[in-house]
Amino acid sequence: MKKIGLAELIAPISVEEFFNSNWPVEPLFIPATKGKLEGIFSLPQMQDMTKIIEARQRKVRACLPDFDDEYSSIHLEPNDALKAYRNNMTLVFDSMQSQDATIADTLKNIRMDLGLVTGGEENDLCKARSIAYATPAGCGTRLHFDANANFIIQIKGTKTWRLAPNESVEFPTERFTTGSEEMSAALENQCHAPLIDMLDEDAMEVVMKPGCVLFVPRGYWHETTTEEDSLSLNFTFSQPTWADVFTKSLQEVLLRSPEWRDLADGLEGTDQERKEKAIARFEFLVKNLAADLPEISGRVLLQEGGLI
Ligand SMILES: [Fe+2]
Repeated sequence: MKKIGLAELIAPISVEEFFNSNWPVEPLFIPATKGKLEGIFSLPQMQDMTKIIEARQRKVRACLPDFDDEYSSIHLEPNDALKAYRNNMTLVFDSMQSQDATIADTLKNIRMDLGLVTGGEENDLCKARSIAYATPAGCGTRLHFDANANFIIQIKGTKTWRLAPNESVEFPTERFTTGSEEMSAALENQCHAPLIDMLDEDAMEVVMKPGCVLFVPRGYWHETTTEEDSLSLNFTFSQPTWADVFTKSLQEVLLRSPEWRDLADGLEGTDQERKEKAIARFEFLVKNLAADLPEISGRVLLQEGGLI
């Protein structure tokens, strides 16, 4: 069977053009083209949401109407999912790659075509996953941004997306939904300006119809609405940072030395003397490492860490 990868996903845009003009920061909307992604559209599970439910071994997330955000959701047995859908709840089918081999292959191909690093299956830095969203008419997702990069294929019905660049934080490592009570400390430290709570009138708007593909970069603001029932299939990729790559590869190297494997003992607790001793020990290790750093090669770190 023909391999489905990035080239077919973003056709007629070429991979080269995509890398030059979009990836990883600029969104891209690609109108439907006849016959494109036939290998996906012909899958039995893409014919109807009920087919996804029939093939489902694991739970389905149903979004609660209180907050119109997928993280305000409950986990349902597949048998109960249809009822929730008929009660106007968006269904989120995580891990679609585990219930269809073509989706699994496509996901892997896209990840490899994008050149995203995993660092091995354990603690996978990229966490490539495919998610199907079944959204009833009249529902939507409130304004938010994700820490992942997202490719969306509209399978059935239509969905309207409004998007805008994020002027408050570059390359966020956390998602954020407007109206959330609190923001994580990590995200707060990454923001250089207050976050917006609504989009401007002139925000980019695209109407996703069957066959359309949309690339939403990490951190890009977006909100969606549906006027009719909608089914879409997403390919989602965490965005391994240089900090992830450095700490993961360095950790692999450090763990080869008994002094770095030693228990980080006494750092927390009420015994001030033990705590000070622990801090001094860490200080000693860090200073020693700093002295070695000029000799350390990025390439060697990546090799030792199993990242290349
Ligand atoms: Fe999103």
